[in-house]
Amino acid sequence: MDDLSFEAPTGEITVLVGPSGCGKTTSLRMINRMIDASEGRILLDGVPVQGIDPPTLRRGIGYVIQQAGLFPHRKIVDNIATVPYLLGWDRKKARARAMELLERVGLDPALAGRYPFQLSGGQQQRVGVARALAADPPVLLMDEPFSAVDPIVRTSLQDELLRLQSELNKTIVFVTHDIDEAIKLGDRVAVLRVGGRLAQLADPKTLLAEPADDFVREFLGHDRGIRRLQFVSTEGLRLRTDLTVPEGSDGGSPEPWLLVVDGDGRPVGWRSAVRPGELEPYGTFVRGRDSMRAALDAALLSPSGCSVAVDEQGKVVGVATRDALDRALSEAVHG
Ligand SMILES: Nc1ncnc2c1ncn2[C@@H]1O[C@H](COP(=O)(O)OP(=O)(O)OP(=O)(O)O)[C@@H](O)[C@H]1O
Ligand SMILES: [Mg+2]
Repeated sequence: MDDLSFEAPTGEITVLVGPSGCGKTTSLRMINRMIDASEGRILLDGVPVQGIDPPTLRRGIGYVIQQAGLFPHRKIVDNIATVPYLLGWDRKKARARAMELLERVGLDPALAGRYPFQLSGGQQQRVGVARALAADPPVLLMDEPFSAVDPIVRTSLQDELLRLQSELNKTIVFVTHDIDEAIKLGDRVAVLRVGGRLAQLADPKTLLAEPADDFVREFLGHDRGIRRLQFVSTEGLRLRTDLTVPEGSDGGSPEPWLLVVDGDGRPVGWRSAVRPGELEPYGTFVRGRDSMRAALDAALLSPSGCSVAVDEQGKVVGVATRDALDRALSEAVHG
């Protein structure tokens, strides 16, 4: 590490991202003193960690690593209760806590009596998270915790972490080399370059909009423009409500495309004026909740070029035409 300086705010997820060998793991391990920094200071709530003895320090810091790092000869419940046992909790209380956490991270309590090798990779990762949370530490260090699982499992583990975090508000330092994961999870993202130097520290939206230099720009990838749209709200998108027709009606409208809606107000398909006998596919987004990226994606799914805005129940609230999307996009991107 070379003159690295950053703050990980209380209750937020700070992501360290960067190429292999840039010093992400080293940075994490300096926080809980598995490695001691040769120079400089690391402050936890204003107190230099160098002055706290490692066991005491680590009691307040959960640590999750790639491959979960579970003890192979201990049952899942005992793996999760590792730190409570070390802290001298009585067995019953420690196990009760472990069972509660098992459910918290989305695992079936029936898995408690199994051994790690009897769990899938994704399940083991969840156990790793549960174990790190067992003594309710205010700080969590996570070193590529989801990198050993397939993309679908990874997505669900990420969603689970965000859900947990919205309840627990831990101070998390999360390491990954996956920029998409960094952007999804981070309240703030620190991009490191080889040599342990900070290239940029920003919230994901700013990072995508204003990369500090060519290294960061390259690291963010070539579809940066599209990905920025995931931070643009669909709240203000102008919707037309005159382009829907009930199923069964044949209405003679001058519009080239009409959205057919069923009796419950849900979309059925697009009807073109050219071939009214056939319904064409549609794409939807939830207005307000989904981003402009989702709205644009929905438009691309349909030959009509329009995307269908629905509410949380899936009922149509309006249609965003290509014009409306164009206007919203250009305002969002160019101000
Ligand atoms: N104990 C050590 N002693 C000396 N050098 C080390 C030690 N551990 C790591 N390094 C070196 O420090 C640099 C940073 O390693 P580190 O493990 O922090 O990288 P990383 O960013 O976590 O990479 P990856 O994405 O591959 O996990 C590397 O060049 C590595 O070889
Ligand atoms: Mg590493």
